[in-house]
Amino acid sequence: MFALPHLDLPPLRAAAGSVRLPGSKSISNRVLLLAGLADGVTEVHGLLDSDDTRVMLQALQALGCSLERDGARLRVHGLGGRLRVHEAELFLGNAGTAMRPLTAALALLAATQGGAFTLRGVPRMHERPIGDLVDALRPLGCTIDELGEPGYPPLRVRGQAGGSLRLDAPLRVRGDVSSQFLTALLLALPLVSDAGDVVVEVEGELISKPYVEITLALLARFGIAVQREGWRRFTLPQGSRYRTPGVLEVEGDASSASYFVALGAIAAIDTPLRIEGVGSDSIQGDIGFVDAARAMGAQVQAHANALEVRRGRWPLQAIALDCNAIPDAAMTLAVMALYAQGTTRLTGIASWRVKETDRIAAMAAELAKLGARVDSGDDFIAVTPPARWHAATLGTYDDHRMAMCLSLAAFNALAGAAPPVPIRIEDPACVAKTFPDYFETLLALVRADPAEVPVITIDGPSASGKGTLAAALAQRLGWHFLDSGAVYRATALAALRAGVSLSDEAALARLAAGLALHFDGARILLAGEDVSDELRREDTGALASRVAALPAVRQALHALQLSFRRAPGLVADGRDMGTAIFPQAPLKVFLTASAAERAKRRHKQLISKGIEANIADLLADIEARDERDRSRAASPLRAAEDALQLDNSQLGIDASVDAVQQWWRQRNPLDQG
Ligand code: C5P
Repeated sequence: MFALPHLDLPPLRAAAGSVRLPGSKSISNRVLLLAGLADGVTEVHGLLDSDDTRVMLQALQALGCSLERDGARLRVHGLGGRLRVHEAELFLGNAGTAMRPLTAALALLAATQGGAFTLRGVPRMHERPIGDLVDALRPLGCTIDELGEPGYPPLRVRGQAGGSLRLDAPLRVRGDVSSQFLTALLLALPLVSDAGDVVVEVEGELISKPYVEITLALLARFGIAVQREGWRRFTLPQGSRYRTPGVLEVEGDASSASYFVALGAIAAIDTPLRIEGVGSDSIQGDIGFVDAARAMGAQVQAHANALEVRRGRWPLQAIALDCNAIPDAAMTLAVMALYAQGTTRLTGIASWRVKETDRIAAMAAELAKLGARVDSGDDFIAVTPPARWHAATLGTYDDHRMAMCLSLAAFNALAGAAPPVPIRIEDPACVAKTFPDYFETLLALVRADPAEVPVITIDGPSASGKGTLAAALAQRLGWHFLDSGAVYRATALAALRAGVSLSDEAALARLAAGLALHFDGARILLAGEDVSDELRREDTGALASRVAALPAVRQALHALQLSFRRAPGLVADGRDMGTAIFPQAPLKVFLTASAAERAKRRHKQLISKGIEANIADLLADIEARDERDRSRAASPLRAAEDALQLDNSQLGIDASVDAVQQWWRQRNPLDQG
């Protein structure tokens, strides 16, 4: 949803509720590869739906695996270790978890069964090293062409049918740059274990061991028992065969859990935040983040497959930690450090430099923008909280984890920021790599002080196009949208249905106060029933205008309208948004298209829906409605004194939205130098 150039977050102050995590990226892509290579059908539940899994699925399809989707389940028909397609061009985006294992598997398959496969990705993928894997595969007799820089994708792997591999001596692979090279080999080598045991020896200190544990656990689920001597030597027994487990459930993503564990530690002040999908049973190393968060002060109750987190110690406690085992989740600690007393020092993070971006440099630069003191080196970062917080535009470097981590800086009010500052997250859609609806999920859990949530009011007479303008503006900004006319229309409709007389003000007010109204995207539900079309009818509008003239009804609907003011912001349209409901709104707009122009628009609208209409009648209706709205005693239609007038008679919808957005930029602190 947040396909916006940026998302502005106002100061946030609390969090509560429950979140179900998306599937683990590491598990999803390993399972897909194993299911694709195995014999038979594997039904995968809870698979992550994201950029990284999408490229893996596309690659499997290009290789001839058939995939069947059934709601949240996916059935993968595996290749049984036999190439069905001998030539393919694979695009793997920025997914290291697809690039590395597919390179290994296809290099081995091409070398023995014949074929030529090209593997490429986005420009950043072409800057992420793969040389250690290539160096491990070549001595076996695999042919791998580096199509760009030596040691980096894009690559072509090729070979002749009937080719043989030298597997009698142990393969050697470096383990100190990325553990994904070892993982790639372990996942792929069962393909060529017919003739004898295959041994892999790791050179250098193996980093990120827990990711290798995930690999071993999943290989075991597919019937392959790797023997391991420490972290140096791994043996795939002769005749290892991938056997589908039939059905496989993917755990929630433990790295993604870290943002919500941190959220709980920072902002779950009254009740714990519940995180579903991972817990103490997890096979993911990043679950170790929970201990680090506890050390900083989080109160975490771990269940088998869920976590409950609340604030414990406050402010948080700075820590010094070797993060080698939790490289991804460790980024979240760097942001928790903003809320800690003292300097948090994270070491053992050299691998950050070869991830989606150089994460040490990126994190140092962005935290410094907020006012934090940051010191960093080849394999460490040290963060001291800001003495004074700055409103900041935070870059995300096409790195999902940067975006998710940095969003937590919006809680600066809780760290005593005076004044609390808003933050801007650039390119929020980059979270699609692993957590496409991260921001929607986060925003559903958080609470802001309404006075700190920006509101743009769009008032104006009937058919002035304010609804269309307001909805489009809300969409552009990623804000909530209040169609207050619909609130009055729904009250009128509910009165009609309940047989309440339009002259019984007290009964109407009671009805309005208990209105079961829900906005669900473009649909409006009254007591659970979709009444969107009925609400839009002319006669409903006319009734609404009568109901709306009653002060007790307006009073009864006041709180409901205020409740729409939630982070990240609200665009509200109606008659009195700027005067009565949100008099403190930082931007108020009043639309002033002429009655004749509005009658023409309404006419066009009705005709396009196949409803008969006549301009003269519409004009008379509009003028009567204007007069009633303007002359009533309760909240008459008029521009707020500080409203900016927009005559949109000659403006198209995009131009009107542009104009209001421009006004907002002039007032938004995040747009000022
Ligand atoms: O804007 P819309 O035509 O949907 O509004 C229906 C009626 O509700 C208006 O004619 C007006 O009388 C009333 N209304 C109001 N205050 C608002 C929004 C609508 O009185 N904020």
